Amino acid sequence: MYTRCGKSGVLLPKVSLGFWHNFGDDAPFERSRAITRYAFDHGVTHFDFANNYGVPGGSAEANFGRLMDEDFRPYRDELFISTKAGYGMWDGPYGEWGSRKYLMSSLDQSLKRMRLEYVDLFYSHRYDPDTPIEETLQALVDAVRMGKALYVGISNWPLEPLKAATEYLKAHDVPLLIYQGRLNMLNREPIEEGILDFCREQGIGFIAYSPLAQGLLTDRYLNGIPANSRMAQENFLKSERRTPELLDYLHQLEAQGKASGRTIAQEALQWILDQKGVTSVLVGASSVEQLKNNLQTIQ
Ligand SMILES: NC(=O)c1ccc[n+]([C@@H]2O[C@H](COP(=O)([O-])OP(=O)(O)OC[C@H]3O[C@@H](n4cnc5c(N)ncnc54)[C@H](OP(=O)(O)O)[C@@H]3O)[C@@H](O)[C@H]2O)c1
Repeated sequence: MYTRCGKSGVLLPKVSLGFWHNFGDDAPFERSRAITRYAFDHGVTHFDFANNYGVPGGSAEANFGRLMDEDFRPYRDELFISTKAGYGMWDGPYGEWGSRKYLMSSLDQSLKRMRLEYVDLFYSHRYDPDTPIEETLQALVDAVRMGKALYVGISNWPLEPLKAATEYLKAHDVPLLIYQGRLNMLNREPIEEGILDFCREQGIGFIAYSPLAQGLLTDRYLNGIPANSRMAQENFLKSERRTPELLDYLHQLEAQGKASGRTIAQEALQWILDQKGVTSVLVGASSVEQLKNNLQTIQ
């Protein structure tokens, strides 16, 4: 169920839960609560946020704050909670990218929304080519020194700045715990660009986001576009992604899965977990059923 995160002391569940979609004010609170509780009750100890998750941005963290108070407070030490800053969160010049000003303010806001004293993991959500990386990285180091985060992570940074970050953080006694990158059967950049290998060699964990390509690598779109699906919103997942080639690929996966008793989603998740150096897959879910299906990959 759990894998060591790189060469750290931290164990993470092979399947972790992400709160990007389905946990904001645009989703029914009781459904979000049921998914979150099901996850924790089935060993999913890692919940992943960013400042801007949910509609409106921040509402996923705020709803989780309510869950902390109502359900999870007694279990705080059994949970590994991450958040991030990097993308646009508030107006003006201090509400995005990688300045110390933005990262520190954003982390304070996240803690307030989630009603937490600290997060287990704080990420730089994206590389900022216009801010000296020392400024961004020192903000991460200082977040740990101030007791607001226990570990630090990097998400979506290209390989060269990632290498520099690894050195900087090591030299400041806050080693990089984990890299969060998009990896799934349809998007293999972290493998192709050498990021996964680099993390493995350096003892840095790797967590794969959008492991189901936002639902493309499931049975969700086999027979059309369901009205309640992410694709129906035509926002982050466009209907043009549902091509005849994709459907052929899904039918192949379906046939392959039948031989091993796995669903398409389980085939897709297992493929990632089989890659050397992957610590965890970070799934999303709009129902308990979906999460249950995904967790069966590792049961
Ligand atoms: N660091 C970054 O820049 C970054 C970027 C993106 C995501 N993330 C993280 O990764 C997490 C997961 O991302 P994601 O939501 O794109 O992940 P995903 O697991 O690839 O997609 C989740 C969606 O797939 C569908 N689905 C999931 N399980 C299913 C199943 N068993 N059968 C059928 N459909 C299923 C659901 O779509 P419907 O909603 O349509 O039902 C669900 O919302 C996020 O919550 C976030 O924590 C990080």
